[in-house]
Amino acid sequence: MFAKYPDYEIVNLDLLTYAGNLENLKDVESNKNYKFIKGDIADKELVNDLVKDVDAIVNFAAESHVDRSILDSSDFIRTNVVGTHNLLEAAKNNGLKRFHHISTDEVFGHLDPNDPAFNESTPYAPRSPYSASKAASDHLVRAYFHTFGLPITISNCSNNFGPFQFPEKLHGLFITNLIEDKKVPVYGDGLQVRDWLYVEDHCEAIDLILRKGKIGETYCVGGNSEKTNMEIVKKILELLGKGEEMIEYVKDRPGHDRRYAIDFSKIKSELGWESRTSFDEGMKKTVEWHKANVDWWREIKSGAYLEYYNKQYGE
Ligand code: DAU
Repeated sequence: MFAKYPDYEIVNLDLLTYAGNLENLKDVESNKNYKFIKGDIADKELVNDLVKDVDAIVNFAAESHVDRSILDSSDFIRTNVVGTHNLLEAAKNNGLKRFHHISTDEVFGHLDPNDPAFNESTPYAPRSPYSASKAASDHLVRAYFHTFGLPITISNCSNNFGPFQFPEKLHGLFITNLIEDKKVPVYGDGLQVRDWLYVEDHCEAIDLILRKGKIGETYCVGGNSEKTNMEIVKKILELLGKGEEMIEYVKDRPGHDRRYAIDFSKIKSELGWESRTSFDEGMKKTVEWHKANVDWWREIKSGAYLEYYNKQYGE
């Protein structure tokens, strides 16, 4: 955002829980238009105070990892539901010009192989505690538009990948495990399908929606890149020069969603957005970034992260 709009003033409110990391924003920390505040969106007073000085809220804050929501979903309700509600209340009480809510395609449930992709009118049918909490927050955001006229927009994106992603998600976990010569845990048969969206393409879509999106509307943002998990694993193995003996098939995720896919024709026709990074290019960039930033993820893959990893996959 600063590269494109140097005059914007951005306040970053983040509780710095397990996935928050100040290292990720080193590049901007000395920018005079940037302010970091360590705090919780579930803290009503703090949020209300901060919002007095802002024009727009972009709500990226969420507990986002499905496997963690299976182990314990309390934080998901607190941050995703209660936190979003606090932000909405603060936006309403302070007459904000815009509230943009970042959401996920998981609120729509999952698809069979031949089903048409999700779009903005797909009924909500979440199947994990995580996606149920995001669905609840989306409903609240829409309710504040209809009931109070709050100027909202929502985007529902497919699976993101790229630099700085916490290494519990498929790409980061598998790339870093392989660089460390560890096996990669594939859930079930590995034939689940996700629609992979390179993170910078997603950010471009959010910027466009903020500037040109229609108030009260939802936009589905997808990567036009449906792949099975096995295709992802094989691509990573190829890019790192490793063999398939590094794959370990493990117990499937409970309630594992089979397929997600996004029909992004609305944002394409209304706002002219389309993802720009091809699958091969995105995969290459992501693997290269992890090879060049070993210190960043080594630091993360120790300490509290290790505790979670061992709980999830055994010592
Ligand atoms: O669709 C958007 C969603 O994508 C976001 O809303 C979520 O916040 C985000 O976590 C992601 O959800 P997934 O569950 O699809 O992502 P994850 O990276 O956890 O898993 C991707 C696929 O890879 C999924 O089918 C499970 C599988 N998987 C994942 C891990 C971590 C494995 O086979 N082994 C693993 O160790």
